Amino acid sequence: MSHVDATDTHAPATHNAPTPTSARTVHTRASSRPVTLLDLEPRTDTFLEEALAGLRKPSGQRTLPCKFFYDRRGSRLFDQICELPEYYPTRTELEIMRLHAPAMGVACSPGAVVVEFGSGSSLKTRLLLERLQRPAACVPVDISREHLVEAAEQLADQFPAIEILPVCADFTQPFPVPASRAPAQRKVVYFPGSTIGNFTPAQARPLLARIAELAGPRGGLLIGIDLKKDPAVLEAAYNDAAGVTAAFNLNLLVRMNHELGAELDTDGFYHRAVYDPQRGRIEMRLISRRPQTARVGGERFEFEEGEIIVTEYSHKYTVAEFAALAREVGFELQQTWTDSRELFAVLYLSQSARAGA
Ligand code: AVI
Repeated sequence: MSHVDATDTHAPATHNAPTPTSARTVHTRASSRPVTLLDLEPRTDTFLEEALAGLRKPSGQRTLPCKFFYDRRGSRLFDQICELPEYYPTRTELEIMRLHAPAMGVACSPGAVVVEFGSGSSLKTRLLLERLQRPAACVPVDISREHLVEAAEQLADQFPAIEILPVCADFTQPFPVPASRAPAQRKVVYFPGSTIGNFTPAQARPLLARIAELAGPRGGLLIGIDLKKDPAVLEAAYNDAAGVTAAFNLNLLVRMNHELGAELDTDGFYHRAVYDPQRGRIEMRLISRRPQTARVGGERFEFEEGEIIVTEYSHKYTVAEFAALAREVGFELQQTWTDSRELFAVLYLSQSARAGA
């Protein structure tokens, strides 16, 4: 486990304490090569506000925000999901990275600051960093601080020549990219894992626009997307036989009880994921087993038997659909890498001349 030791006077005593949104720099101790963290972890009351906003919707339309899946336990469960036989995206993306990292490295070079959205497992990042020509720095950005720090420490140990500058932040909101010591020739955003699919197209558009702004005129975007396929394959991937995805989904309620003082019966809900072919997305649901009352932030919420809370969307694209979405914010598709079964794709996009002009 990583130990995060704040060096300024506003440091939280523990990782679970509410934190201010102001930036502060902390130095990790546990690693052989410490990294400096820019800590912009969202306040805990953002979690409460967003959870309440989703639960106040009319019955049948209630939601909870999937970005709060990733506390320490949630991140561990997600790592386990990535190893499941049914969950093909991670291993397929890795296979694509292993085969095509040299070409990706060329597309993203030279002299890049690589800003990684969602630090996840550093294996894919490692494959990319190994192939970059004269990288200036790597900036992993993640909302889960402990997970981020661990991933950043591993990268720092594996790549002593590359400056690793982790930022704990909600990447859907603007955040500053720390300056690298080495001169940067360009910024490339690396957005692996098909996490873009967890945003609706209406949310993905402004996020991609912000990425385009962050990358700047000479910048690029290397992104993983999950492709449309047989709904049975998709539903199996999100309803695994071992029940790990169910535990991951229900952990949101566990977290609300622990961190928000909510009273939600975690045994009173079960998990189900359903593919909506019209919208081209998986819907992760928590379903009430019986009529029940929950309390969150001093408010009461009544649930009928069978009532659904949607906790996550996972959108699936064709390459053409995603390229069209990205074009709306000034990105042009340059290169596509996919696997032999065309389950998943990694795309490199750069700013179109028009956007850069
Ligand atoms: C992180 N994200 C891309 C995963 C997905 O496939 O949408 C999250 C996940 N949810 C359930 N399983 C995995």
